[in-house]
Amino acid sequence: MSTWANLGLQDSASPLMEQLIFFHDHALLILVMITVLVGYLMFMLFFNNYVNRFLLHGQMIEMIWTILPAIILLFIAFPSLRLLYLLDEINEPSITLKSIGHQWYWSYEYSDFNDIEFDSYMIPTNELSTDGFRLLDVDNRIVLPMNSQIRILVTAADVIHSWTIPALGVKVDGTPGRLNQTNFFINRPGLFYGQCSEICGANHSFMPIVIESVPINYFIKWITNN
Ligand code: CUA
Repeated sequence: MSTWANLGLQDSASPLMEQLIFFHDHALLILVMITVLVGYLMFMLFFNNYVNRFLLHGQMIEMIWTILPAIILLFIAFPSLRLLYLLDEINEPSITLKSIGHQWYWSYEYSDFNDIEFDSYMIPTNELSTDGFRLLDVDNRIVLPMNSQIRILVTAADVIHSWTIPALGVKVDGTPGRLNQTNFFINRPGLFYGQCSEICGANHSFMPIVIESVPINYFIKWITNN
């Protein structure tokens, strides 16, 4: 999760988020290079002493400054498309979790197992324990095994919600009447926090998501005791 003064992306906990961070850094580097070049050219214009007063056209330079930016954009476009299709790939998931957005809580169904479904509400500040995270902890956490491909199905019961976990690189809209899917792979144990990120009404800020990532034998123990 994000803590004090963390202005950048959260540490990744999945291979896809790692790739997203690499792409972010790559795009930012190109952005810095363009900004420095354009900034330098604009700064130098202030000291122009008009040696080219009779210059009316320059076919070659116009050709260069049209095609060169197009080529630079390709260096962003191709990695972006690669990532887009990588995020969409479903890699034979071992379990499926269905999450349904409501105003204003999430409910979950483990469809691979019999009758495992529950609601997940935010813990109000006045009921929070001293080690709890305000506006971020829930009463019933999602428990998922680490090092496994997990498919997540997202939908909603009333208005559009969005199931978003920054550390895992997941952000899927839950839309009434539609079923969206994505998948992720958690590569370490721990707690992963997320929030709804579709403006869904008065208590939009108060429907967080908590994933408890555990080793697979602990997950089997949890699922059999439920
Ligand atoms: Cu649900 Cu915002």
